[in-house]
Amino acid sequence: MEDIILKTVDLTKKYNNKAVVDNLNIEIRKGEIFGLLGPNGAGKSTTMNMICSIVRPTAGKIELLGKNPWKQKKDVIHKIGYIPQELAIHGSLKAWENVELFTSLYGIKGEQLKNAVNDSLEYVGLSERKQEFAKNFSGGMKRRLNIACAIGHNPELLIFDEPTVGIDPQSRNFILDKIKESNKKGATVIYTSHYMEEVEAICTRIAIMDNGKIIACGTSEELKRLVNGSDENITLEEVFLTLTGKKLRDYAE
Ligand SMILES: Nc1ncnc2c1ncn2[C@@H]1O[C@H](COP(=O)(O)OP(=O)(O)OP(=O)(O)O)[C@@H](O)[C@H]1O
Ligand SMILES: [Mg+2]
Repeated sequence: MEDIILKTVDLTKKYNNKAVVDNLNIEIRKGEIFGLLGPNGAGKSTTMNMICSIVRPTAGKIELLGKNPWKQKKDVIHKIGYIPQELAIHGSLKAWENVELFTSLYGIKGEQLKNAVNDSLEYVGLSERKQEFAKNFSGGMKRRLNIACAIGHNPELLIFDEPTVGIDPQSRNFILDKIKESNKKGATVIYTSHYMEEVEAICTRIAIMDNGKIIACGTSEELKRLVNGSDENITLEEVFLTLTGKKLRDYAE
């Protein structure tokens, strides 16, 4: 179907014969902010890395923007903006040089490149600091620069892997607002996190992941109804505890 941006069928990754992503079936539609919520080690990053053709699946299928990202990488890679959990910026380069480096990898050149770099830095609120070396940035500024590096080529799918870990509430709110803004402008978003509040605040649909499996998937209200029969008098946190037997809050820092 045309508006399916991502579909996985029985997607599996095994390390040492143990499935860390276990027969995962998800379908993400155009325009969604899809949240992948799970504790440490649930398999969130491994899933994102398989989708972005960084980690090779052991089994299963991925259909990304109608293509197989492993066989037709060139057709899809420039349509995706991947913000990895580990910062992927160079401390010894200035902020603008970082953005230019990553944006140019998508074949953007000349005036268009210059504009893309400026727009991306503006977008994350770092225009004034563009001449500074990334190594001197605060944690929140590094996270924002990490985002700027991934959006210069104007991707239609943005994949954020825990972009707010270890940063102050102001930077966190800034990033969440920007994600909503990008989505309003037309980008589909996949957002992985173990912060329940964030996922509930920005995501249109949420998949709860634990031990490599999707335990449940739906809107926040649907997940609450699934556990409680009604979406009242229950928090997403309680839903998570009921479904997985784990307190997600323990994983929050
Ligand atoms: N290259 C690897 N070799 C062996 N095991 C791995 C490798 N990469 C990940 N794993 C294991 O796979 C499991 C899932 O890891 P993953 O990083 O996908 O989890 P996550 O949900 O992103 O966790 P976190 O919230 O801590 O980022 C973990 O048990 C991890 O140790
Ligand atoms: Mg991770």
